Amino acid sequence: MATRKRTAAPRRARRTATAPGRAGTHVRPLISARALRARVRTLGRRISRDYAGRTLTMVCVLKGAVLFFSDLVRAIDVPVELEFIGVTSYANATESSGEVRISTDVARPLEGKDVLLVEDIVDTGLTAAFLLSLLQARAPRSLALCTLLEKPSRARTRVDIAYRGFVIDDVFVVGYGLDWAERWRNLPYLGVVD
Ligand code: IMP
Ligand code: MG
Repeated sequence: MATRKRTAAPRRARRTATAPGRAGTHVRPLISARALRARVRTLGRRISRDYAGRTLTMVCVLKGAVLFFSDLVRAIDVPVELEFIGVTSYANATESSGEVRISTDVARPLEGKDVLLVEDIVDTGLTAAFLLSLLQARAPRSLALCTLLEKPSRARTRVDIAYRGFVIDDVFVVGYGLDWAERWRNLPYLGVVD
């Protein structure tokens, strides 16, 4: 039997965040994967302490919050039930119009549950405000908002944020679930599109 010549293992492609051939689409790192991990652990501990002895129904806002959500649920040690809600906001790539439509609803009733809505970012706040009033109408036992990011300089409505990861300036961020026209969601860190 012929022995196959051993070839060097393919070098792991370095993940660059530059789209070839597209000017103006370079991503400058803003919050590292390590900083994200540390912050998620802290939030998880705080949430676990606040909901000790209860079962928490965590509602992930699709799609942007999905990576944050999957890390956060693993940092929480009270029993959790996972739900997903999908929203389509009538917007261009970078601006929210404030008009939101539910594209996927949660699968189970929220009545009497301790509900934590998990968002990627509170920008104008319009999406979070809309979702909070929608979920409140379903008579949960409690309802709170956890967001990875907040851009207070862009706020157009007041939303009560119980847990926030990071406050950022008015820059458009991508990665760790957040997109720019569906791109960059899979970056393991958060960056700014230049
Ligand atoms: P709102 O303006 O608070 O309603 O934000 C609604 C949505 O806009 C968020 O859930 C994100 O999907 C998106 N968004 C706002 N700012 C950014 C950003 O900097 N990067 C990526 N998506 C963003
Ligand atoms: Mg988005």
